[in-house]
Amino acid sequence: MKMWSGRFRQSLDPGFENWQRSFPFDRRLLGQELAASRAHARALRTGGVLDSGELIAILRGLDQIAEQAAASPEFTNDHEAEDVHHFVERQLVSLIGETGYKLHSGRSRNEQIAADLRLYVREAIDQVRSKLGELCEAFLERAEQSGSSAMPAYTHLQRAEPVLVAHWLLAYVEMFLRDAGRLEEVRRRANISPLGSGAVAGATLALDRDAIAADLDCPAITANSIDATSDRDFVLEFVNALSFVALHLSRWAEEMILFSSGEFGFIELPEAYSTGSSAMPQKKNPDLAELVRAKSARVIGQVTALLVTLKALPLAYHKDLQETQEPLFTAFETIDALLPLVRGWIEAAEFNFQHMRERAQSGFMNAWAAATYLVNRGVPSRLAHEVVGRAVQFSLDTDRELEDLSLDELRAFSPLFAEDVYACLGLEAVLALHDVPGGTAPTRVRQALEEARRKVESLRENAHAHA
Ligand code: ARG
Repeated sequence: MKMWSGRFRQSLDPGFENWQRSFPFDRRLLGQELAASRAHARALRTGGVLDSGELIAILRGLDQIAEQAAASPEFTNDHEAEDVHHFVERQLVSLIGETGYKLHSGRSRNEQIAADLRLYVREAIDQVRSKLGELCEAFLERAEQSGSSAMPAYTHLQRAEPVLVAHWLLAYVEMFLRDAGRLEEVRRRANISPLGSGAVAGATLALDRDAIAADLDCPAITANSIDATSDRDFVLEFVNALSFVALHLSRWAEEMILFSSGEFGFIELPEAYSTGSSAMPQKKNPDLAELVRAKSARVIGQVTALLVTLKALPLAYHKDLQETQEPLFTAFETIDALLPLVRGWIEAAEFNFQHMRERAQSGFMNAWAAATYLVNRGVPSRLAHEVVGRAVQFSLDTDRELEDLSLDELRAFSPLFAEDVYACLGLEAVLALHDVPGGTAPTRVRQALEEARRKVESLRENAHAHA
């Protein structure tokens, strides 16, 4: 039986009927729908709508639905169910008879879908946070293993200054830790129970909303039934937070594609995550990174889909809101599948430390250090910059690096240059110069590694534990 057929004389156009169904995708919400239904059933008992025998029958029926769904995926091949709510009602009635229809007392699908989606987002956040923790762990381990290895850091994709490889890897850990923090904030706003909001004006039976919320492990209930049944901010916020993860992964992917090219030669692609060319026998392609780069578009696109679906929608529930489900599922499933693969890639990739170091030692990446040498001897910074710029120009003309110039040649640019300048131009000295919190001096990076380890460990321990 349909959930609404009483006032209709005609049956639905079969094409329309099939097209408007959400069960093909909202079957993902079965677990949440069952949990919310158990909580509602218990509130119906407390409110005197169900007797204890009916409650037991309903709870047993709901458990059986869960068991059958777990036992066989075909169980949800129900081509008549309109949505997950209808599916559960149909199954329940076929299991326990007409008492099954009593479960819908005092509730509306409008609040049910809002509740299911909130519970789904809550679980999805825990899963993404836990996978982000594992990803951070992989980056951190590679950073710890890289010791004192150095590489060039780039601005404008031009070599700028040398940094420790660990410093570069920790930049990604920072991004993913921010993502995990953002998700935790979204979780707080999603984890609120809308049950008892009815269709728009509030439940028609005296239900204990707080008890339902406690049953679902939600610390609070929504304050306004109109808002509660039409709000999808938490979906948008979650997908938006996922788009940050996608964004960060796409920047990482782009660097991997560049750094594994012959022109950079910093990274050897892991064979387990690369493919060859059917035509060119020598090829090994960075497929994983390329697909990560492209799949980020899919996640970012879902934010736009949600914004446009919700924009200008009058209060309260509209069937438009059904269209917020697939963007949510797509964004989550895309990120959920990516994260462990990226982690495997990071663990397997090989760094060409020697080549990185060579590139960190050439290309005048000590020019700022040379200017700093003069600044420390009283030269105004702008003038020191000019002096060293001219020395760089001279070195380029004679195909050398700054440290290849003789002292006499250097002194032609500034008489303040002395023998000790050469010690300031070496890679280790240049690295050590950046001795501020957050800088690349090895002592600072060691502290940063310890700090990052603390944060990653706390994320890994708390990904599923929330106040
Ligand atoms: N499948 C619907 C959705 O996802 C459930 C709510 C239906 N409510 C209604 N009044 N038709 O939005």
